[in-house]
Amino acid sequence: MLGNFSYHNPTKLYFGENAISFLKDELTQYGKNVLLVYGGGSVRKNGIYDEITAILKECGKNVAEVSGVMPNPTAEKLREGVKTAKAHQTDFILAVGGGSVCDYSKAVSVSVHCDEDPWEKYYARFEEPDCEIVPVGCVLTMAGTGSEMNGGSVITNHEQHLKIGHVFGDNVMPKFSILNPRYTMTLPKYQMCAGIYDIMNHICEQYFSGEDDNTSDYISEGLMRGLIHASRIAVQDPQDYEARSNIMWTATWALNTLVSRGKSTDWMVHMLGQAVGAYTDATHGMTLAAVSLPYYRYILPYGTKKFARFAKEVWGIDPAGKTDEQLANAGLDAMESWMKELGLVLNLTELGATPDMIEGIADATLILNGGYKVLNRDEIVQILKASL
Ligand code: NZQ
Ligand code: ZN
Repeated sequence: MLGNFSYHNPTKLYFGENAISFLKDELTQYGKNVLLVYGGGSVRKNGIYDEITAILKECGKNVAEVSGVMPNPTAEKLREGVKTAKAHQTDFILAVGGGSVCDYSKAVSVSVHCDEDPWEKYYARFEEPDCEIVPVGCVLTMAGTGSEMNGGSVITNHEQHLKIGHVFGDNVMPKFSILNPRYTMTLPKYQMCAGIYDIMNHICEQYFSGEDDNTSDYISEGLMRGLIHASRIAVQDPQDYEARSNIMWTATWALNTLVSRGKSTDWMVHMLGQAVGAYTDATHGMTLAAVSLPYYRYILPYGTKKFARFAKEVWGIDPAGKTDEQLANAGLDAMESWMKELGLVLNLTELGATPDMIEGIADATLILNGGYKVLNRDEIVQILKASL
């Protein structure tokens, strides 16, 4: 049965090759002091920075910058950004980059007018913002996280070996996001494929839970089929606009709060992947890829029916002559072949994890209870060891 829910997503999207032409109109709705946030320099190399700063100038904005937001943004960098945003009396934050820059900008937005330490308040105590929130807009340059249309904000604390996500409410979601698939064309293939797997896994996290017949699962199956199709084209020809645009749009729908409505969700691959990230600082999508197959093969006996449905509906495997268990396993085998086609990293060792880290990674893994099997710590250690 589909559970009760409310649904509202306040983020306005502009999609396509001329999406940036709407930035000026959006910016005029906000105050003069803009904080421009970006990453380690890709936007300077590919010209997006110049394009945006010209628009900011045209709008007469008074701009301060926070640059060097790293993949897996840190608590330390967050504190630095909050300082800059306060000093600039920031009216609006413009995030130009991938999920890291968008997530980071949201974290700054809820912390500018807050005197407490942002890590402690939002990522240790999971409190909700009780201060003025500075509005955020995004210009997305990498498809994957869905951060452009959700309230998620993941921050890493290296001293504490923790990588924690806070899902903020509607009032923190971007006011608008500009999605131009061309902007993603300069991504290295490794990042493109990591993003593709992140999208796939967001859908799986919301799909592998519950036994009900509900609309969300049908939407998810369609999204997964489309993603697999587009990814096979993009990996052969990364410049294929049609494939890249479909990937970008799927990323948004995979995690913009729609497909989780009215159903339970799992999210254990992300909990494992984030704990790995806290220890290795590896690329998010690759941490998910490395733990996924051992995790799904471990929980398969507890959710065999759904894994069998996944095999048939997503991978097109003929169920004739197969038990549910055989069909379910064939689905995961098909996913494994596809992951190899994309060149995803399928073990933690390649990401820099070592056997002596396993206990610590297990300690850093939050255990959730929405999936087919609530894991205990020993099972987490077992899955992590199988992922090495
Ligand atoms: O820093 P620059 O120089 O810009 O380079 C970035 C970075 O090195 C590069 N890049 C981005 N766009 C590019 C480009 N290079 C060339 N051309 C372009 N157009 O790609 C690298 C990775 O960028 P990043 O933003 O880190 O990747 P992603 O979008 O995967 O974001 C990852 C972060 O998002 C969090 C992850 O945990 C991680 O911290 N997540 C956020 C979620 C959310 N908000 O709901 C959910 C996700 O599950 C995820 O946890
Ligand atoms: Zn993810």
